[in-house]
Amino acid sequence: MAESKYVKSKIFFEEEFEEKLAEVPTDPKGPWPANDNLKIIGKPVSRIDGYDKVSGTAVYTFDINLPRMAQARILRSAVPHAKIKKIDTGKAESLPGVLGILSSNNAQEIKWFNTSSLFDTHLRYQGDEIACVVAESEAIALKALKLIKIEFDELPFTVDAKEAMGEKAPKIYDEGNIQGGKPFEYARGDVDKAFQEADAIVEDTFDTQVAIHNPTEVHCSVVNWDGDDLTVWDSTQAIYGVRDTVADALKMPASKVRIIKKYMGGGFGSKLECGKYTVMAALLARKIGRPVRIVVDRKEMNLAVGNRPNSVQKLKLAASKDGTLTAISHYSYGAIGGYEGGAGCSWPARQMYKCDNVKVEEYSVFTNTGPTRPFRAPGYPQGIFALDSAIDMLAEKIRMNPLEFRMKNNAEKHPMWNAPFTSKLLKEAYEQGAKAIGWDKRNNQPGADKGPVKKGMGMASQIWWGGGGPPSHAVLKLNRDGSARVIAGTQDLGTGTYTFMAQIVHEVLDIPMDKIEVILGDTAVGPYCPSSGGSTTAPSVSPAVRDAAENMKIKLLEAAAAQLESEKKNLVYVNGLISDTSNPEKKIDIPGLMGKMGEQTITTTGSREANPEGYITQTFGAQFAKVEVDTLTGKIKVNKIVAAHDIGRVLNRKTLDNQFHGGIMQGLSYALMEEQIVDINTGKVVNTNLHDYKIPIIADIPEIEVIIVSEADPMNSNTGVKGCGEPAIIPTAAAIANAVYNAIGVRIKSLPMTPDKVLMALNQA
Ligand code: MOS
Repeated sequence: MAESKYVKSKIFFEEEFEEKLAEVPTDPKGPWPANDNLKIIGKPVSRIDGYDKVSGTAVYTFDINLPRMAQARILRSAVPHAKIKKIDTGKAESLPGVLGILSSNNAQEIKWFNTSSLFDTHLRYQGDEIACVVAESEAIALKALKLIKIEFDELPFTVDAKEAMGEKAPKIYDEGNIQGGKPFEYARGDVDKAFQEADAIVEDTFDTQVAIHNPTEVHCSVVNWDGDDLTVWDSTQAIYGVRDTVADALKMPASKVRIIKKYMGGGFGSKLECGKYTVMAALLARKIGRPVRIVVDRKEMNLAVGNRPNSVQKLKLAASKDGTLTAISHYSYGAIGGYEGGAGCSWPARQMYKCDNVKVEEYSVFTNTGPTRPFRAPGYPQGIFALDSAIDMLAEKIRMNPLEFRMKNNAEKHPMWNAPFTSKLLKEAYEQGAKAIGWDKRNNQPGADKGPVKKGMGMASQIWWGGGGPPSHAVLKLNRDGSARVIAGTQDLGTGTYTFMAQIVHEVLDIPMDKIEVILGDTAVGPYCPSSGGSTTAPSVSPAVRDAAENMKIKLLEAAAAQLESEKKNLVYVNGLISDTSNPEKKIDIPGLMGKMGEQTITTTGSREANPEGYITQTFGAQFAKVEVDTLTGKIKVNKIVAAHDIGRVLNRKTLDNQFHGGIMQGLSYALMEEQIVDINTGKVVNTNLHDYKIPIIADIPEIEVIIVSEADPMNSNTGVKGCGEPAIIPTAAAIANAVYNAIGVRIKSLPMTPDKVLMALNQA
């Protein structure tokens, strides 16, 4: 049996370091060779769940249909700020088909993350939960919501972060509207001195919009009680996280709660935390003794399940004539809505470039708007948009090519902790990306093109975490017929986790792909794996799967030694056949070997090893954009994006390209189209559907070229994988913004760069 030990390991997740005690193997399996020397790792393998999905047979949460299942829907605040005086559910209760109603009348005692009740009578944004109705059908539930009578006092509201920070703004909490009562601050070096001594300084303000995750699959839970046992099918990025939150809220043992998520239509961070709706459905199901499905529809998703907060960023940068970046000052604020959240966007300013003098001051401000949730690289697309716009401005000021300027200020060690990286190939990304886009053909004179349609080229840098870490475990079962089942308590958000797990088992044990079954997304069967966020799933889970497969190989060799009466050291495992190098007569295949065993199934486990002490694992890259801007209409068209990144080893070239294409499209959308719009007079969102909330169609998508400059990060884990989901979106908007400037000679400092902003900027210039 493989042995394990416990260690403390540092893991970076979303926005902070966590030290975790984790079970890791005592016999780390060592790095794999380069992909060229592997059979299936890195190849463009089609998804093993692809047929289920395209044929419509894949079962998503909404598709779960249980006998006698009732339907629940939530009543949400229609106003941005109010205090409930009375809720009268009498009329709704008497509607035929209504089975139960939850509200502050009868569920006040249910706590939620220690901050407020599941139903607070203080409503802090349009969309805040008031009541939940369960009925025989969704139509009846929706009808009943309209019959609930609310007496409430409307309160003055504020939907703008700047206004909310002011003295006169309505207070959303007694302690004031600045979360934590003060800004987050960071400093290194002496910024003031560096500005005094600088050869060149740029200073400007950038702003970015609120964006909504809008994954294709709506948020949904189906709950079923069987005595004291609760099963929840939930659209979640974190089955274990949801399990513990539900158990806590209902004050029941985690062992009685089972969370299942088989297939998922995306999350992007909006499904990282358990939703209130899941707990409401569980309470109602217990009350009525029937299974309950609860759906959060598209409108509710646009109001209440999280957003990428807006940002206003004041940046001041300094450089010396030789192109050394000498100072960065970053001041920012953003609206986090009515509940705890985060609007920080200074990570890029703190760590993207080598810079000795940095100062950061950032405010997360309570407002009467929807809540924030981590959204694909929280803080980074907005932070890089401002920082890399300013970097281009500064390079221009000292008459340096912006690519060369970035190269010169590349950080060899982590600029905050002076720690070495497990791997960093940013310079290679700059070089290969520049070559692919044809950087040497870029306009030297911004806006120089003749005629109304002007072309330009721009670039931006990427930094993110994505190293993953322990604890993360997998179980592998091998059957007599040579088929295998690999089980892990992770979940596939649609990113390809099922497929790479099967590839790894195939790589190590030569079991045919169609004989490998992968079971994910079930807390009742899967050993613990972390939530799928921070681009950590593949870097955390893939090494555990490889460990389990290698342990299986060790076990099979031991069994073969006993069966063949050979010495273990003489046995080799090639293409699923074990043979004795000292005696060609002695050989046995897996089904043959297992046929001799008493066990009909043999099992191994595997675990992710610890992260190396004293090193930082990060992902890096650069994106390059080619655009054309019609100066008569203000319309920006992106013609090409080159994405060159260091993301460690590629497990599957096809799903990797999917991730990059998706991230770049989402980044382009953020650059040019998406924006949640709140009417400042009413405090209400005016675009709560995918018609009014603009996202790109296929005709808007440019040619996309993805270059991976890394072979693997062998120091990080036995697979050398770093994450790629979030890196893909980070530099896109900034690269497009810099290309737009290069095309028209006028800088757009506000996202999204809609035609009105382009025309306005051109007029002012
Ligand atoms: Mo996340 S924002 O789902 O990594």
